[in-house]
Amino acid sequence: MDRIEITGGERLAGTIQIGGAKNAALKMMVAALLGDERLVLHNVPRLADVATMRKLIEQLGLTVEALAPHTLSIGGAITSVVAPYDIVSQMRASILVLGPLLARQGEAKVSLPGGCAIGTRPVDFHLKGLEQMGAVIELEAGYIAATAPRGLQGAEILLPFPSVGATEHLMMTATLARGTTVIANAAMEPEIADQALCLNAMGARISGAGTSRIVIEGVGRLGGATHTVLPDRIEAGTYACAAAITGGDILLGGAKAVHLKALLQVLSEAGAECSEEAGGVRVRARGKLQGVDVKTEPYPGFATDMQAQLMAVMCVADGASMLTENVFENRFMHVPELSRMGARIVVHGASAIVRGVRELSGAPVMATDLRASSSLILAALAAKGKSVVSRVYHLDRGYEAVERKLSACGARIARVKE
Ligand code: EPU
Repeated sequence: MDRIEITGGERLAGTIQIGGAKNAALKMMVAALLGDERLVLHNVPRLADVATMRKLIEQLGLTVEALAPHTLSIGGAITSVVAPYDIVSQMRASILVLGPLLARQGEAKVSLPGGCAIGTRPVDFHLKGLEQMGAVIELEAGYIAATAPRGLQGAEILLPFPSVGATEHLMMTATLARGTTVIANAAMEPEIADQALCLNAMGARISGAGTSRIVIEGVGRLGGATHTVLPDRIEAGTYACAAAITGGDILLGGAKAVHLKALLQVLSEAGAECSEEAGGVRVRARGKLQGVDVKTEPYPGFATDMQAQLMAVMCVADGASMLTENVFENRFMHVPELSRMGARIVVHGASAIVRGVRELSGAPVMATDLRASSSLILAALAAKGKSVVSRVYHLDRGYEAVERKLSACGARIARVKE
């Protein structure tokens, strides 16, 4: 297993080009199952999760061709309706093939994803929504077996919580259902609006994506399209935190300030300068940052996917901060590892109280999930001495070329291959 070694203390300065959004690209690859012509996706990040999704849709019969390093062409006929446990357990987003397979083939069998490092993460909203559209669902031997004996029809779906995955899953599926589907209390993440753009380019009729009420008029078929994946706001946010924690100055090339509002507001409140520039978003830290209180919420609130990284920054800010996790019930796995580097953090239920220390010290630490990994990388960049972050396969799920991007800004970082 690879490790990343970092000698901290360097002030980072320069430009980091932001890649395409993982959490949009993965769902668009699934959307290719809905069309009967090829879908060409530009700006697809080169990540372990994208490789896993490729494996899954190839297993279902599609062919995936890399036309360029960040361009995939996906198409072909569906030849299997089974998403096996070994793939679904690696990547939960695999569950999203269920509805599209059902819409195209009338049946699907997808492994239940099980728990994961950040909580139990049930899929009940997904299944309930599909049932409202006419799916008959049974659970057998760890698998979700679904059929649509009378086809799928539009439905009025009210989500109990604005789940990103359930919104995307039901929106995709509804494109091929008979009649109109309304998703109320829908998630409003920018990736959902981008997915709707991609689906509409394939011939779908979706309006309201990006708001809490999405209306989908079902159509008889979807074709192909060419779409460019939007920039990854979590990758951008992570490097914004790298500028903040190292007292640095980084231009996040291609990032969209409008998607980063909640984070930029918090970093500004903490004392960093954040500005929108022609080429992207610039984050500059001058002097010591101040502690801030933040709670995670669905978009446009502060993203749960940025909580661990902000915590690393708060570890060396002046005063105390309180970070409250409202989206997932077990997303503080980075706390004991940050503590090993000298951070002062206590967790009370869903809140972590961070008391800023003057300096962190380098240490061997272990990544437990994707965003926890990036938080440890950030802490290591600021820490005195050398840190070794192991289990970086988590990091590789969501960050492309992290060592190259950071070392180009002056970080002393290297991957040690095993
Ligand atoms: N939930 C349910 N039932 C459901 C679906 C969700 O109770 O059927 C709950 C979850 O357990 C959680 C909350 O609703 O407490 C929100 O979960 P959501 O469905 O919004 O999350 P997701 O779709 O599984 C995506 C991202 C996550 C990101 C969350 C929240 C992808 C592949 N994953 O997950 O990204 O944290 O939305 O924004 O899009 C990451 O990239 O590191 C990552 C974990």
